[in-house]
Order: sequence, then structure tokens, then C-alpha cells
Amino acid sequence: PPLEKFVDPLPRPVSAVPDPSVYPGADYYEITMRESEWCFHRDLDPAPVWGYWAGNPHDPDRPLGMGYLGPTVNATKGRPAVVKYRTELPADRHMFQFVIDRIREGDPRLAPPRYHGMPSLPPDVNVWNVVHQHGGFTPPQSDGAPMQWFSPEGVRGPFYTTLDPGKTAPNEAICVYTNRERSAMLWYHDHAMGITSLNVYAGLAGLWLVDDPADERLGLPRGEFEIPLILQDRTFNEDGSLAYTLAHAEGADTPVVNGKAYPFLAVQPRRYRLRILNGSNERFWRLRFHADGDAAPEVFLPFWLIGTDGGFRAPLRMLNFLISPAERYDLVIDFGRVPPGTTVTLRNYNAPVHYPGGGGPEISEVMQFRVTEPMPEGGDPTTPPEELALRPVEPIRPRPGTRRRQWVVHQKAAFHGMTFNGVPFMAPSEDFVAAGSSEIWEYVNPNHEAHPMHVHLVNFQVLNRQPIDATAYRDAFRKWLDGGRVPADRPVLEHYVTGPPIPPDPDEAHSWKDTVKVYPESVTRIVIAEFAPPTGRIASIPGSGTEFPATYIQHCHILEHEDDDLMRPWTIVTERT
Ligand code: C2O
Ligand code: CU
Repeated sequence: PPLEKFVDPLPRPVSAVPDPSVYPGADYYEITMRESEWCFHRDLDPAPVWGYWAGNPHDPDRPLGMGYLGPTVNATKGRPAVVKYRTELPADRHMFQFVIDRIREGDPRLAPPRYHGMPSLPPDVNVWNVVHQHGGFTPPQSDGAPMQWFSPEGVRGPFYTTLDPGKTAPNEAICVYTNRERSAMLWYHDHAMGITSLNVYAGLAGLWLVDDPADERLGLPRGEFEIPLILQDRTFNEDGSLAYTLAHAEGADTPVVNGKAYPFLAVQPRRYRLRILNGSNERFWRLRFHADGDAAPEVFLPFWLIGTDGGFRAPLRMLNFLISPAERYDLVIDFGRVPPGTTVTLRNYNAPVHYPGGGGPEISEVMQFRVTEPMPEGGDPTTPPEELALRPVEPIRPRPGTRRRQWVVHQKAAFHGMTFNGVPFMAPSEDFVAAGSSEIWEYVNPNHEAHPMHVHLVNFQVLNRQPIDATAYRDAFRKWLDGGRVPADRPVLEHYVTGPPIPPDPDEAHSWKDTVKVYPESVTRIVIAEFAPPTGRIASIPGSGTEFPATYIQHCHILEHEDDDLMRPWTIVTERT
């Protein structure tokens, strides 16, 4: 039977508590991956999940976490953090072991045959993990790239690195984070080679908020009025456990927010700040707030976008938004616009799993807000969104001659893996970026579905998009690959464009992004202002700077595509090569 909707209250992830005494000048956390039980819905039995647990410096016997997902790290802008990650996950069997077994067997039913091909899967372990801070300005040794994995029994991937090796057990890794980003909602999640999709689906994701104390003046809703929402979709077995099917390309069928299926939240008739992360493996959501009941003067509540992946932007009034995996939307919504007693349903109205073509199960209702609680005395003390002192993000205007780099989404054939530029992830980096330089990256997508592309280390701006003759470009590109990739013969993108460049959408213009929607049959151009990894060492933390060449990655954030082969390294060098 379908699950009853809106019967479980929305959980709020707990906050991790730092220990400032271990590395002077930095906040220190210990975060452990564990298997435990979690109940996704009132009518489902508790089921095994994976999650992150933070050590509790005040009460070591009571680690901080929910079981599923992870505790929120509340960082202060400019104050570094050091995290010791540990895995205590079961070593012998992955939660979705049958997928790993079938990959190793080369099961032809795995269509597309994904996971970078078998050679890159560690042969001797069944569970391996690494943690990446998404959106972070992080030195490469702490970035949590796929080959930096480690396992519960202490086996380590070829690029495993840790700070302070003397202080780490074999199943641990110590990472450093600068927190030098603008104040923004980052997140951390598993990034293990070939099985990121399985590990995140099991629960390995959490929030990382970078706050600037200077923002307190803004008058934004805070505390209980600032609500993080981690949107995911999941499919459940009858016994309440997570189902991951080999046909997962079909997508999951039930919305889960902060770990609960179809939750509800009681709200006061006042302004709230909703900090939304699309933490789904594959699903795009197009969301709007539907006020139910005749008394409501508006069918769809307007809201104001005040921030994106990389932090604040000038407020933009909106009625709906499209959010792809890994993107963040920071909204202010006023529940005082509807009469008390109204329910407001967060609805997903036309974004199927495979955006825009569709195919997977549809989800139309996500969660509910009940405007039930009384207004506090004295009314709403927060600043109306249109009066917020948030300055527009200045557009980067690339200088003529700015270096361009192309990442072409190449699909060999239907049901075959995807790569960038026809090159597998495991091939060595061949993209060298000069430290301090600016570049325009062109994501060329001659195929039929949209991909959210994410670049590690940097924030960028969306420059424009342009339609292309996809069939002709695809044929020319394939021919070029077959001909041995002679640089001079590469198809010239300009010969395939079929219309003028289209400016970025209002919600991405004048915004800092780390993930961009790359639509089908077009090129999406982004501009990266400066490639400048953290160089200075963080006081008291040996080995915390960046050494050149510094290799990072960029990839599609549909996790099944990333585990397929839609991911490539790129390298910052001190001089242009
Ligand atoms: Cu959110 Cu490379 O990751
Ligand atoms: Cu993709």
C-alpha cells in the first residue's frame, strides 16, 4: 500500500560539536561512518542505514547523529576545521553487495555497464569510502577524490592521503578545510571510487554550513526559523529497508526529506529561511509551494531566492525553481501570506528523473508545511526579503582571449557508458590549468538528457548557453575519436551552433555556482574567475598547504553517471603547459 503522506514530523539534523583544543586555531571533529537503524516513515519498520556520527566532546558515550545522513557542521568563515574520518562500517558486505558482485562478474544486465569498468574496483574489499566536502576551497590532499578511499579493515586506495599520519589508524583519514568560502551551505558526502551512488544512497551525506558572523545584521530568519531541507528520493522494500535496483536508472519513487518520507513541518505565520539541497542520486525537482484551501489568497506562494551554491545573491522573487542533484537554493518564504490553518504543500510538478525526457516514477508531492502555530508577540522581526541588504554578484566579464576548455559528454552508444571527451576517468589528467588564471569551460551536451556538472575547488558563474546541431556534432566527434583525436582535426563547436547564445536563467545569473545544469543538445558555458588553491599552510596543522601540480576533478553529479565514467581529473600547474 502507498505510504500515508504527511504523518511524520520533519527531522532536523543535529549539529556536530567541535573540539578547539586539538589543533590550535582550528575546530576539530571526529566523524565516524557506521551502520545503524533508521525509520523512514511511521508505517515502515526500522531498517539498516549508513550514516555519519560526530564525536561528542562533552559526552563521549553519546555520539551525535541520527543514523541516516550525518550531523551538520557549523563552521565559521575563515576558521579552519580539521576532521578525522573513521569507518566502522561492516567490512565484509556492502549494503548493496549484489551490485558490486555483478560489476565484478561483468554482468551484461548492468545496462549501462557502469562503474569505470572492473579494473578500477578494488578487488579485495567490499566496502570502501572517502569523504568530499562539496563546494569547499580545499587543498587537494583533503579533497576526498575517488581514489583516496580507505576501508574498514584498513586497506587504502592508491591516492589515499592524510594529515598527521602518526595520529591515524588504518581505517581513518584526517582532512583539513579552510572555510574560506563565502557564507554558504556546503555539504559533505561519500565519493568512493565507482560506488559513490551506492554509498550516498545508503545514507552517507550531511550538511556543512559556513557562516559569517557579519551576516547577523541582515535580519534573516534564524534558529528554528532557518530550516535545512535535504531532498532525496528512495525506494523501499516491504520491510522498510532501502531498495537499490539494477534498473536504478529508472529512479526511486518516494520523496525523503531529512530522512523522512513525506514529512510535515508545523510553522508560524511568518518568514522562514529554507536552505534546500538536492541530495538525490539522479532526480531533478521542479518545486513550488501550493497553498491548499479556499481561504488562501494565492494558489502558489511566492518566495525569494537569496542564495545559491556559492552563497548570497540579490533577492529574486520566484514562484518555482528547478533544482538538479547537488545544487542548493537558499529561500525566504513568508507563511504569513496565508491564513492560519492553511497547509502549504511542496509540490514537484514536471521534473521527471531523467530530465527533461522522463521515464522514471513520478513524484508530485514532497512535504507539507502546516501554518498552525500562533504568531509570536510583536510580529515578525525579520527583514522583508525585498529590503535585504544583499548586493548583486558582479558578473565576471571574461577578457578576449580567455582560454576555453571543452568537456564533451560522449556516449559511445545506447546503453554504453558516458565519458568526457571520449577519455575514461582512469586515464591520467590531460587538462592543465595555470594557477591564478581564468578560463571559460564549455560543457557540450549533444545527447538527450540534462546533466548537473560540478567542478571541485572553484565557484563559477554561468556565462551562457547555445543550441547545437546535436546529431551532426555527435557524428563529427565520434569520427574524430575514431581517427585518433588529432588536436587540429577536432570538430569546431562554432560550426555546429544553430542559434545565438542564451543568457543564464534569472536564478543563476548574478550568482555563484559550483554545479550547473547542462541541458541537452546545447553547449553550456561557465566562467571560472581564478584557479587558486589554498597555498598557505594552516598554522599548527602540518602538511595543510597545496603542492603543485594540484589535481582536482569535475564530474556529472548524477551519481550513477559519475560512477559510470562521466568524471575527469584536471590539474593546476604553476606555469601554463
Ligand atoms: Cu558533490 Cu565531486 O562532488
Ligand atoms: Cu549526468
